[in-house]
Amino acid sequence: MTQQAAPSVDLLMEILPEESTISDTGELSIGGVPVTELARQYGTPAYIMDETGLRRQIRRFVDGISSRRPNSEVLFASKSLPCVAMYAIAQAEGLSVDVAGGGELMMALTAGVSPERIYLHGNAKSNQEIQMALEAGIRAIIVDNFDDLDRIEKLAAKPQKVLLRMIPGITPATHASQVTGGNDSKFGLPPADITRAIARIEAHPMLEFEGIHVHIGSQVLETEPFAAAVRSVAEFGSFSTYDVGGGLGVKYTYDEVAPSVDSYLDTITEAADRLLPADAKLIIEPGRSIVARAGITLYTVNTVKTTGKTFVAVNGGMADNMDIALTGQRYEALLATKIGVEPTVVADVVGRQCESGDLMCQDVALPDPQVGDLVVMPATGAYAYTLANNYNGACKPPVIFCADGSSTLAVARETYEDLLHTQQPALQRRW
Ligand SMILES: Cc1ncc(COP(=O)(O)O)c(C=O)c1O
Repeated sequence: MTQQAAPSVDLLMEILPEESTISDTGELSIGGVPVTELARQYGTPAYIMDETGLRRQIRRFVDGISSRRPNSEVLFASKSLPCVAMYAIAQAEGLSVDVAGGGELMMALTAGVSPERIYLHGNAKSNQEIQMALEAGIRAIIVDNFDDLDRIEKLAAKPQKVLLRMIPGITPATHASQVTGGNDSKFGLPPADITRAIARIEAHPMLEFEGIHVHIGSQVLETEPFAAAVRSVAEFGSFSTYDVGGGLGVKYTYDEVAPSVDSYLDTITEAADRLLPADAKLIIEPGRSIVARAGITLYTVNTVKTTGKTFVAVNGGMADNMDIALTGQRYEALLATKIGVEPTVVADVVGRQCESGDLMCQDVALPDPQVGDLVVMPATGAYAYTLANNYNGACKPPVIFCADGSSTLAVARETYEDLLHTQQPALQRRW
């Protein structure tokens, strides 16, 4: 084996949920619940959330921004973990939410989020989605393009606040599919169209123009592009609201370095205080950086084998974590009951989906991996549940919140019956 030592507890604690503990025998607990108990009760694969750490992280954003710039609002970019329990926690901890379509809007309303705290995004909203938002009386619709505006103008029968999404012309260093602020983006309008769009909004009797929105991209690991985002909206004029989107990146692997929430907020609020009108409201929309670290995925080893190299294959994969294939995101993997035990083998931890790109963790040193061992992938709280799919007939895993030694099922595991639910009986017609 290419010798690698077991990662130190300090290193582990940088990517595991905040409320993680490790027993004398090397077993991980999340929020005081041992992983063996979680596996026994809910099965694997399963998404496990540290609710206490999650709530603490939310407060870092909510309290952190309001202490720096009182006239501000933090929207949870709910696409990063769109489940009813999460919407309820977001609202309880003082977040507003952004939804990107009718499905997320329904979940937010079902969770009891006040419509006054909901913002609707989308570059291709349907009439139905706009109608839902108007009827619910949400806080604001973010207009993405002129077709969007046509629809809103036709449908708005009572006063509705709107923001306008502008392309900021900023390309942060991240995976190409996660850049949204470049000049050729499909999201928003180019600066040259903004004045015309504002004039139309202001001319409509039911629409109230609040300000400009930009979003530069996701998993951004430097702070400077966020200052650039503030500059891009500031240059555009004086409004009552400036929404500079989300995108703060997180640490997925031991060697990755991500900015702290404090340094991110320092950068944004310093730029806002310098460049925006003093009484203007500043909005941010973090998603990943709120939920990623609070979540792990728990798997079971189904196969250990050596071909050209050694593979430890688990009972999940790109069906429950699409980003390993979509963006090539790499994660760490741990044997969840053998933490701190000296490694004996270097292996690739892979999934069970039918692609070689179904690779979660390459060349990881593991202590004698055996069939039946529990595997933990840290930092999977964001976009893993969101992007879960049925590749190879996989059933989407459950979402479980843990706190103070007990666990609560937030989303049930999909079943084979669920998979068949929308399928029409075969052979009623000749295909
Ligand atoms: C408009 C908008 N706001 C906020 C976000 C959240 O980004 P992140 O999860 O990287 O913070 C996204 C995601 O891409 C987005 O499209």
